[in-house]
Amino acid sequence: MRKGLFITFEGGEGTGKTTQINRLAQALTQTGHKVITTREPGGTPEAEAIRDMVVQRDAGTWTPLAEVLLFFAARLELVSKIIKPALDDTKIVICDRFSDSTVAYQGYGHGVDLETIKQLSTLTLDGFKPDITIILDIDPKEGLERSDRRLAAEQFQVKQREDRYEQLDIEFHKRLRQGFLDIAAKEPERCHVIDATQDIDAISGQVADIVSKAVGATD
Ligand code: TMP
Repeated sequence: MRKGLFITFEGGEGTGKTTQINRLAQALTQTGHKVITTREPGGTPEAEAIRDMVVQRDAGTWTPLAEVLLFFAARLELVSKIIKPALDDTKIVICDRFSDSTVAYQGYGHGVDLETIKQLSTLTLDGFKPDITIILDIDPKEGLERSDRRLAAEQFQVKQREDRYEQLDIEFHKRLRQGFLDIAAKEPERCHVIDATQDIDAISGQVADIVSKAVGATD
C-alpha cells in the first residue's frame, strides 16, 4: 500500500507548469506536509545525463523509439531511487512530467505506436502511475508565444539550449495537446484538465482544490 501521494503536472510548452509546481509545493509544505519536487527527464544524476542527451538542442536527433527507450530508462532511475522511497516515507512527490508526456510527445507527436509505449511502461514501471495528474491545457500557438517571451526575458543560456522541442512545428504541438486530452478522457479519475490561459491565481486555486481532496483522503 502506497503511503505518500504522487502528483504529476503535464502539458505542452508555455503552460506555466513550473510556477504551479512551486506554488503547490509551498502551500503543502506550509500546511505541514513533507514534499519533494522533481522533474522528468531528470531528478537523479543518471537521469539528468539522459536529459542532456535528449532534450538539449545540440543533442542530435534520435529515432522516436530510441527516444522512448531513453525516457523510460530515465524514468526507471527516478522512480526507483527517488519517487518510490519518498512515497514509502509518506512524502508528497510532485513531478514535472511523467509517462503521459511520452504518450503525448513520442506517441501522438512523433507517431510511435501507443501499444509499444504501453508495453514498455509495463515492462519498466510495472503499472506504477501517479495518483493525480494535472494537465495544463493551452492552445499551442499561445503556449509557444508565452514560452518565447519567457526565454527572451530570462536570457538563460541552458534553457535556450533546452528548447529543441519548442522548435517543432505547430502541427506537432496540436497533436500532443490532443494526446493529453485523450489521456484525460480515458482516465478521468486520475487526470484533471485545467485551462492554462487563466491567471496564475485562478489556476493555483483549482490545483489546490483537486489536491486537497486527495490529501484529505490520505490524512
Ligand atoms: P520541460 O521543458 O517541460 O522540462 O520538458 C523537457 C522536454 O522533454 C519537453 O519538450 C518535453 C520533452 N519530453 C518528451 O518528449 N517525452 C517525455 O517523456 C518527457 C518526460 C519529456
